[in-house]
Amino acid sequence: MRALCYNIPVKYVIFGGTFNPPHSEHIAIARHALDCGYDKVVLLPSGVPPHKSCGVGAAHRLEMLRLAAQGEEDFIIDEYEIHTGGVNFTSEVLPRILEKYKGAHYLIGGDSLIDLNKWHEPEKIIKMCPILVCRRAGRDEEFDKALAFWRGRGADISVMDYFPKGVSSTMARYRAELGVYGGLNEKVVEYIKENGLYTTFSQYLKRLARMVKPARFEHCKRTCEYAVMLNIKLRLGLDNDKVFLAGLLHDCGKGSSRFDRERALRPLPEGADEEDRQRVPEPVLYDEALIPADAVGKPVEHQFVGAVLAEQVFGIKDKEILGGIRFHCTGKADMTVMEKLIFSADVLEEGRDYLGVEELRRIMLNNFEEGFRACLKASYDNVLRKGGDMYPLTAQAYSCYFNK
Ligand SMILES: [Fe+2]
Ligand SMILES: [Fe+2]
Repeated sequence: MRALCYNIPVKYVIFGGTFNPPHSEHIAIARHALDCGYDKVVLLPSGVPPHKSCGVGAAHRLEMLRLAAQGEEDFIIDEYEIHTGGVNFTSEVLPRILEKYKGAHYLIGGDSLIDLNKWHEPEKIIKMCPILVCRRAGRDEEFDKALAFWRGRGADISVMDYFPKGVSSTMARYRAELGVYGGLNEKVVEYIKENGLYTTFSQYLKRLARMVKPARFEHCKRTCEYAVMLNIKLRLGLDNDKVFLAGLLHDCGKGSSRFDRERALRPLPEGADEEDRQRVPEPVLYDEALIPADAVGKPVEHQFVGAVLAEQVFGIKDKEILGGIRFHCTGKADMTVMEKLIFSADVLEEGRDYLGVEELRRIMLNNFEEGFRACLKASYDNVLRKGGDMYPLTAQAYSCYFNK
């Protein structure tokens, strides 16, 4: 708590957001604003955000924010927007908030500054009060351009010398769906679990857990998480829900394919570890005629089986998702962004520890197309090294992306 002198105006900074859920970076940014000389940070959770859908109700978001901000004496949570209901644009809400917190500044993230031109009435907003903005790692050029542009339009913008770490509410929501809660306050996590928040996909997870071995299930979750992370971080523009499902279900055919069922019947090798002993609890039967004949009984078979089961067991009809599953193992010529993404996330997910994976991840995080090509090359070389059969689709993918 700072000593406040009654005849010196309090310096407020308004920090709006959906806080869905509030995470460690929200708190870090707010604390950093205090270090920049503000006396109070006013956290302003939005009601119904006009530009994004929000599956979790305002009451839950407010309660999570209270828990996340517990013990922070210089944070104020203002419920104004929550109670106004309906669609609220910043240009309409901010004047009323500024009446209450006289002389306040308005804090936005670096991405928001870059996208400010897409907001409702940005010209009005920039004239309402001084703006404090957080830097944005990885988008320096766009950030500097937006900064110069808005300053040129008369905006009074100060840049906070703080680079938020790559935590985002969107990522936190998808991770919570998977039961992963990094970057969230313990009490917020407890609240999420108690109230069953972020469980849109729980039926898919439960069903998948019955179809594949536990270790495979964990790999599916990690692939899903990595794919969503890449889609957000590299701004690939795919629908996150679709990426989530394609990543999660990409290996749902493992265990049900003929290759895997036959392997499960073989005697266990000497010294087999616990994972090998785990039997697939519930292989699912399907019409083998739907699987390309040259894949039946081969390791690549599970990708085709996976696409069939995703449709028949999980009710997925979306072609983009099914394509991501169907070609995640072999690749093919002329792949969609989704197909490249799931192919790559499968070999890059955080549980992978083969030699060279770090370098592949580095290339990917730098550039999606180069990252995908590096993953394709690594998979192709791996088949050659092991002396296995090169599946025709993989050969076609290689010639499409390397010999053109
Ligand atoms: Fe696979
Ligand atoms: Fe996989």
